[in-house]
Amino acid sequence: MKVSIIGGGGRVGSDAAYALQIGGIVREIALVDMNAEMAAGEALDLRHGSALTASQTITSGGYEVVDGSDCVVITAGLRRKPDESRLELINRNVGLFKEILKSLKGTKLPKTATILVVSNPVDILTELAGVSGIIPQGQVLGLGTVLDTCRFRSLLADRFNVGARDVHALILGEHGDSMVPILSSATVGGVPLSSVTGYTAEAVGEVFDSTRKSGAEVIRLKGGAGRAVGVSIKKVVEAIALDSGAVLPVSAHQEGKLGISGISLSMPTRVGRAGVLEILEPSVTAAEKAGLEKSASSLKDVWKQIQ
Ligand code: 2OP
Repeated sequence: MKVSIIGGGGRVGSDAAYALQIGGIVREIALVDMNAEMAAGEALDLRHGSALTASQTITSGGYEVVDGSDCVVITAGLRRKPDESRLELINRNVGLFKEILKSLKGTKLPKTATILVVSNPVDILTELAGVSGIIPQGQVLGLGTVLDTCRFRSLLADRFNVGARDVHALILGEHGDSMVPILSSATVGGVPLSSVTGYTAEAVGEVFDSTRKSGAEVIRLKGGAGRAVGVSIKKVVEAIALDSGAVLPVSAHQEGKLGISGISLSMPTRVGRAGVLEILEPSVTAAEKAGLEKSASSLKDVWKQIQ
């Protein structure tokens, strides 16, 4: 499978490319960036490691290298300031994103191509890509709360001293301030999270608060996220490449699960070569459902602003 990364010369795009190289599943990686030299440097640096990672074709260039891509990952965009919400970024990023979509319209993508939006505000830009007509809306996904869920699982594992891969605790809704932790179904190795030694609701609340602030904290400390975003992107891209049906909290256009429709946000979604195979309805408490409805309403307000 061929993957193009629009923004491949940047921190997120290049970390995603590196994760895909280490994963070794995709066959071809093409990097596109406004900073063409940087994209070329990232591609060269990656190619230098091929002998110890995977036999892949790794290139860079203008939009002509996007031709024939099975998945186009869009990471390009301005980064928010530590005190700026992802939704506040909309005024600066939507114009740039529309330019990217216009350039993508000029490329030769297979009818089965998928688009994975990472740029923020990811839910709004996922909705924008979905209605762009470049490819069917069901083939457009956003990274959504895959990253938040990864952070939450990792930070819960640190707090309770358990294996991070054994923690299953979803975050759904907006990849942003209104994200919702789904604690009612959280488990560790199949055991309810509430049974874990040291569990208290306060401790979990503190971990969720850290998770929600993680993006801003990483921006403050190192200028922006890259590593955890990169492996989150890899997880989604490889589910597409392998047509695995992996159930991931990607952002997608909602059509009624939990009564939410008409906007893109994160719900448990079966992901395969065709993109969104199926959106699953999670079992949530009334409070969690109300949180998701608030997430949808906040995103719809922003969506109206950019029409
Ligand atoms: C983050 O949460 C970049 O939105 C991404 O770090």
